[in-house]
Amino acid sequence: MTANSGKPVLLSGSAPSGILTIGNYIGAVRNWVQMQQDYDCIFILVDLHAITVRQDPKELLQRSYQFIAQYLACGLDPEHHILFAQSHVPGHSQLAWLLNCYTQMGQLSRMTQFKDKAQNAEKANVGLFAYPTLMAADILLYDADLVPVGEDQKQHLELTRDLAQRVNNIYNAEIFKVPEPYIPKVGARIMSLQEPTKKMSKSDKAETNYIALLDEPKRIKRKIMRAVTDSGEEIKWDPEGKPGVANLMSIHSAFSGKSFAEIERAYGGQGYGGFKGDVAELVVESLAPIQKRYHEIIDDKVYLNNVLRDGAERACVRSQPALQRFHDAIGFIPAQLHG
Ligand code: TRP
Repeated sequence: MTANSGKPVLLSGSAPSGILTIGNYIGAVRNWVQMQQDYDCIFILVDLHAITVRQDPKELLQRSYQFIAQYLACGLDPEHHILFAQSHVPGHSQLAWLLNCYTQMGQLSRMTQFKDKAQNAEKANVGLFAYPTLMAADILLYDADLVPVGEDQKQHLELTRDLAQRVNNIYNAEIFKVPEPYIPKVGARIMSLQEPTKKMSKSDKAETNYIALLDEPKRIKRKIMRAVTDSGEEIKWDPEGKPGVANLMSIHSAFSGKSFAEIERAYGGQGYGGFKGDVAELVVESLAPIQKRYHEIIDDKVYLNNVLRDGAERACVRSQPALQRFHDAIGFIPAQLHG
């Protein structure tokens, strides 16, 4: 159903690490749900990337299911699009190896994410170093047209484009499609509740900084009521001067659909207390249907495993041609496999 729908291929990956927050929902997942109308979408749970950092096996397993269930609860459609776990599709590891042989160590040493994550390069594992070539493999395997990327992943996408072009040049053939970044029109950036100049992050250790997609209503209310606000009493859009209030306004706007001007008007002359109460209410109400659906899905391992099997099977089929083109170009003996 998905193959050759004629629509551009949009590909996104995210690692099952940390906890999905309303920042991920507003900034990414909700947009993916929208984009399903216009694109042929491929959503990958990048569990191979997750193990560049040591993971507790039980936790990784549980979290992986939870991420898939949350994506489904948010509205990703596994029938018309492809949702799967990276570790289920061998082509990712295969292509990553091949690409490693076309990537310079100097290039990878310059990746800012590597520099940030590996304070001591001597001790860093090789997987962390080669993380970007695995990401390039994710993208190039499926002839992706577009990849939604945040600021932190732009350099990796640039490398992916670079590798695709290099391979195409070496063999003087269009082996890989060169992907383009997809920059969402208005990607609201949700900030930390306690430090509103920092992005809300799914790997933040401090619970009060974020609202998890699965937080209970009481907890959501408590976190929002305690969110940092700025001096003064005015509800006014001023991200520089009043980042705390601006962040709560962003959250309000993301869930209510109201503009900042409308929010200012609605709360003009009122203090922070009432406004925060309303934001909390709005978040609780907006997340309720997602949470309900999540709880229906998470215990249904048969359903989850079926979704993942179906996704992996289709991803395997879709990943073959690119891999084959590259093998042929390199000069490997064509594999004569049964069935
Ligand atoms: N590196 C990405 C991140 O940290 C995750 C990722 C892995 C990815 N493979 C991808 C994103 C392919 C887009 C496309 O967010």
